[in-house]
Amino acid sequence: MKELFEKNIAWAEAVKESDPSFFEKLSKQQAPEYLWIGCSDSRVPANEIVGLMPGELFVHRNVANLVVHSDLNCLSVMQYAVEYLKVKHVIVCGHYGCGGVRASVERQRLGLIDNWLLNVQDVQYIHQAFLAEGQDAKELVNKVCELNVTEQVVNVCKTNIIKDAWARGQDLTVHGWIYSIADGLLRDLGVNITNLEEMRSKYHIAVEDINKRYA
Ligand code: CO
Repeated sequence: MKELFEKNIAWAEAVKESDPSFFEKLSKQQAPEYLWIGCSDSRVPANEIVGLMPGELFVHRNVANLVVHSDLNCLSVMQYAVEYLKVKHVIVCGHYGCGGVRASVERQRLGLIDNWLLNVQDVQYIHQAFLAEGQDAKELVNKVCELNVTEQVVNVCKTNIIKDAWARGQDLTVHGWIYSIADGLLRDLGVNITNLEEMRSKYHIAVEDINKRYA
């Protein structure tokens, strides 16, 4: 544990060196433009991937980056980010090779978490006609990772938090991205939704695109 405190001191000093008033400014307020909803996986650190400093990204992470309509934790983060911080973008970011998605695809029995991952099972159920039995196991997991992001984007858009924001005329876009641990790069899945009217059409285009790429 000592090592972590030492690393913390070194980090704080490095930040202060590049901007002496950084922490002083930051302690007064946060004004992030982005809400990141990502996976808890230690290899997918939100701020680092997009090169953002503390104060620039509001973050919610859980296993398999799920947006569940009864999850008070995720909903509270979204409500605060949208209504009080007035973020302009909500980013749902999945990643290839997600352990949560793999556990769901392989129907692993891991304990309590199986219940959480039933939400990924639901995604597989929705798309079962396009999830071929003979597909390469790794490809299949990656395909479900992408489909899962598009479903979670729709789940974000369907909340009263986002619908009310759009009804008020608030400038807000919901995005679906996927990250590759293998090369550190993000891919935009094309579900960039700025109003309720375009939600369905953009979702269908993105899903068709995924099905084509994994055909
Ligand atoms: Co994951």
